[in-house]
Amino acid sequence: MGMLDGKVAIVTGAGHGIGRGHAMELAKHGAKVVINDVGGSVSGEGAGRDADLTVDIIKSRGGEAVSNYADVSDYDAVGEMVAQAVDTFGGLDILVNNAGIVRDASIFNMPVEDFDAVIKVHLRGTWIPCKHAALHWRSVNKETGAPVGGRIINTISGAGLTGNFGQTNYAPAKAAIASLTQTLSLELYKMGVTVNAVGPAAATRITATMPGAPAVVEPDEIPEDEWNRMDPAVSSPLVAWLASDEADHVTGQIIRAVAENIILMKGWADGPTINNKGNRWDATKLGTQMATDVFFTRAPGLRY
Ligand SMILES: NC(=O)c1ccc[n+]([C@@H]2O[C@H](COP(=O)([O-])OP(=O)(O)OC[C@H]3O[C@@H](n4cnc5c(N)ncnc54)[C@H](O)[C@@H]3O)[C@@H](O)[C@H]2O)c1
Repeated sequence: MGMLDGKVAIVTGAGHGIGRGHAMELAKHGAKVVINDVGGSVSGEGAGRDADLTVDIIKSRGGEAVSNYADVSDYDAVGEMVAQAVDTFGGLDILVNNAGIVRDASIFNMPVEDFDAVIKVHLRGTWIPCKHAALHWRSVNKETGAPVGGRIINTISGAGLTGNFGQTNYAPAKAAIASLTQTLSLELYKMGVTVNAVGPAAATRITATMPGAPAVVEPDEIPEDEWNRMDPAVSSPLVAWLASDEADHVTGQIIRAVAENIILMKGWADGPTINNKGNRWDATKLGTQMATDVFFTRAPGLRY
């Protein structure tokens, strides 16, 4: 018995890299997988049939998979993708939003088109599949009256949580996906759908755009018994577990899986607070108070 036997999954951007690793892992545990990929370049130009590569790998290993070539930011095409999962495999249980592109440059050199393109693929391209999956699960929930047990696993990045020079498009897109994950977990909870996000790290086409990055490696090129800390499938066991019935109590979480480590990310939390007891703050006095009682950069003995 596989832990995902009988489940139907969609993995976006699964033609290469991390998405291919997730799709292989889900199939290994028994899920039937729709392999989505638009088949473009790492910066989002062009289109191709790269999804077929992953379908072939999964089939050659005894799994079940079909290709889908939709652009994840195309509303109608993604609706058809969800319908394809239901028509081909009889339902939808797991949605892994992974598709992504990069167009790095400092803000001085980044054309507005490159800001729009990156936000579009990552943020809109996560929201739209979530929307279609949510509509599908709501109709199933209304029909059966039972929790649907759906799973959404989004993809964030450390860059989105802490910032990264040269990524004023990518980092905010990933931060917004973390916020989308938390917000959607609240909206879908009552239907029995969990929504979490995973932050991977791997040697892929995306990292290869950065100076000094290791060579691209695809997950099927690494033997299953070999440990490679940059294997695109390093985070895939976490994705498979989050997708399973066992993880039905986990939702709204942001978890990074980097080499040997699985790290629960702690979000924004209230820090030092000052209170003016019902009075308006005086901007000319704020500097002293902020330094003394918020940033702790001024000794309290110097208070005036
Ligand atoms: N590689 C890393 O270290 C790393 C770190 C953090 C987050 N990520 C994220 O992991 C995800 C996968 O990236 P990767 O590193 O495997 O790169 P990759 O280029 O190997 O894979 C991304 C895939 O998404 C597909 N894609 C791009 N735009 C699409 C669209 N509009 N519709 C459908 N498919 C589309 C591409 O064709 C490609 O196959 C991305 O969301 C990326 O931001 C990667």
